[in-house]
Amino acid sequence: MITTGQKIAIQRTAKSRLPETDLENIKFGRVFSDHMVVMDFEDGAWKAPAIMPFGDLKMSPAALVLHYSQTIFEGLKAYRNVNGGVNLIRPKANIARMNRSAKRMCMPPIPEDVILDAMIELVRLDQDWIPKGDDAALYIRPFMFASDQYLGVRPSDGYRLIIFTCPVRGYYSEPVKVKVETHFSRAFPGGTGEAKCGGNYAGALYPSKVGMDEGYHQLLWTDGLTHKYFEESGTMNVFFNVDGTLVTPALDGTILRGITRDSIIKIAADEGIRVEERQVSVEEIEVAAKNGRLRSAFGAGTAATIAHIQSIAFNNAVYDLPDVSTRDLANLVGTKLDDIRRGRIADPYDWVVPI
Ligand code: COI
Repeated sequence: MITTGQKIAIQRTAKSRLPETDLENIKFGRVFSDHMVVMDFEDGAWKAPAIMPFGDLKMSPAALVLHYSQTIFEGLKAYRNVNGGVNLIRPKANIARMNRSAKRMCMPPIPEDVILDAMIELVRLDQDWIPKGDDAALYIRPFMFASDQYLGVRPSDGYRLIIFTCPVRGYYSEPVKVKVETHFSRAFPGGTGEAKCGGNYAGALYPSKVGMDEGYHQLLWTDGLTHKYFEESGTMNVFFNVDGTLVTPALDGTILRGITRDSIIKIAADEGIRVEERQVSVEEIEVAAKNGRLRSAFGAGTAATIAHIQSIAFNNAVYDLPDVSTRDLANLVGTKLDDIRRGRIADPYDWVVPI
């Protein structure tokens, strides 16, 4: 049995890779810190987590995850704060969301406090991997997969949960060009759209590649039934600033319950900005773009925080949006969120977990 507050077993790496790593020049998701957390679910219970050197896994080619994609993941970040310490941001929200994903994917719930303790310990151990600079952070990737060696289609009995971290800088170097997708679908009612499961991302690869071949960075996903309402932007939630009102699709089961989305909504509302979570029609946004009332649009996610949209291609027309330097609302909210993360201003929301 595992309990909270237990001292976690740590096997340190014999030789850190940090001295030979150039933290100034890193590509998102290509560089991995020294250690990882590993925790197994066996015989109906989670075993104690352990921290060990980051390294390859030994697994059966018949592991269920490799065939039927029973796997979920999360993404969150730790930031260097103004006092030189480290702030983990909203880890409890990520862990809670992971448990929602686990339920949908027929996986066992994870013990939230145990995972939080293990995550804190991991970040503490590898904190020197956080690069310096305003755009830098440690990206934390918890994930869980079905480990049974079996080809029958059924939920696995065994699972492995791993957490590793990556030093990261900005995700997108420039505002993105997007296309409204009205043929392919990312999600549909009753499906897995809300869960952060690997299959959602795999299914989006081909439509995204088609869009990229046409010259777009990302797709603006629309609902799977009618293609009349916006859902997400690439792998992120989407926001539109129409005449100073921040509009975003409501969470309806097909949309990821974005934690950055939630932070943006709370900060914007507290800044006195009108925020609307509702169905957002493609037609309404196209009309607003045509009439110059669409002041900005952006994707929101952990990796990029805010990914400004430069232009939107609708079926028959492409609209360029105002220059990023004029996007007061998005810039205000983004700056405020960053100030909270880095401890430059007080955190009234209890999002920061100093470690
Ligand atoms: C995020 O925006 O944080 C994501 O989930 C993207 C990730 C798949 C790299």
